[in-house]
Amino acid sequence: MFALSAQFRDPINLSIGQPDFPVPESIKADLCKSINENRNAYTPTEGILPLRQKLAGIIDQQFGPNPLRRALVTSGTSGALTLALLAIVNPGDEVIYFDPYFVMYPAIVELAGGVSVPINTYPNFQPNIERLKAAITPRTKMIILNSPSNPTGICCGENEMRLLAELTAEKGICLVSDEIYSRFNYDSPHLSPATWNPNTIVIDGFSKSYAMTGLRIGFVHGPAEIIDVMAELQQFTFVNAPSPVQWSAIGALDLDMHAEVDRYRHQRNALIDGLQKHYEIETPGGAFYAFPKLPNGHSGETFLQRAIEHEMLVIPGTVFSQCDSHFRISYAVDDRTLERGIEVLSKIAKCST
Ligand SMILES: Cc1ncc(COP(=O)(O)O)c(C=O)c1O
Repeated sequence: MFALSAQFRDPINLSIGQPDFPVPESIKADLCKSINENRNAYTPTEGILPLRQKLAGIIDQQFGPNPLRRALVTSGTSGALTLALLAIVNPGDEVIYFDPYFVMYPAIVELAGGVSVPINTYPNFQPNIERLKAAITPRTKMIILNSPSNPTGICCGENEMRLLAELTAEKGICLVSDEIYSRFNYDSPHLSPATWNPNTIVIDGFSKSYAMTGLRIGFVHGPAEIIDVMAELQQFTFVNAPSPVQWSAIGALDLDMHAEVDRYRHQRNALIDGLQKHYEIETPGGAFYAFPKLPNGHSGETFLQRAIEHEMLVIPGTVFSQCDSHFRISYAVDDRTLERGIEVLSKIAKCST
């Protein structure tokens, strides 16, 4: 997509999975300061103490103090996800996740030798607890939840989340909650299944919250005995998250990002207003994605071809799903790009009916 958009004169790029605002100035200043003060060496694999202490304070505030819960700073959220899978999943173990899913999940399950068990959540993209119960077998080791979701932007409902958390606690199945979009909730406060299942492994990061995708830092917290194994694996793989980035992350946690979130809420509203008369589309409550149904007669491939004719880029749903029925839009773009995108998408839908 990056290569394709480089060929266009004035692309309408709705394919990018990262914020369109720059890294906040104070983070950049702290990063430069850390480099210039020679904080560029290895750090403890768990992360520098001041950052871990700060994270521990935030985690205690959210979930209440729990001496059995520990935090680990990782090389991006991807690093935390990879370590969690490698630490917990043995060859042949089944890992359930919800379809549509983040692209990395099938790959890391395979990397760990596990067996992917995707559960269809169409058409409303909420985990269906009966479908989930039916998919659980004696080999089910882990369930991965991602709320708000990439690619749908849907936030898991409180009832579904509580039932999922209670079910995993009751059955002793490891619940991994990918909460990388925790700061991007537009209609209600962020919810975590760790509220109902204290053994949940919560994965979060700085990539989306502070537009730090290239700086590679994330964190995970969960039961100490699992986090300790993940730390040991990190010691022999990623070693540590980049040192100056860790120092800059401390101040990041104090930043108020409400203006950016408010702007994305506004973009979300504009997108839904513009598209809902032409597309079947669930209103996303978070992240910065929407996942509309393809117009009549289109596959992901033919739709992408039509989009490319208009110098527009979106991502076909098959990248995130076993179904070829939807496509992903990222609305983390400027107003003009969004307006042009809505116009082109409306035109394509009208031509298909
Ligand atoms: C749901 C989800 N999890 C994890 C990641 C990976 O993020 P990071 O850049 O922190 O590795 C992404 C990035 O797009 C994502 O959408």
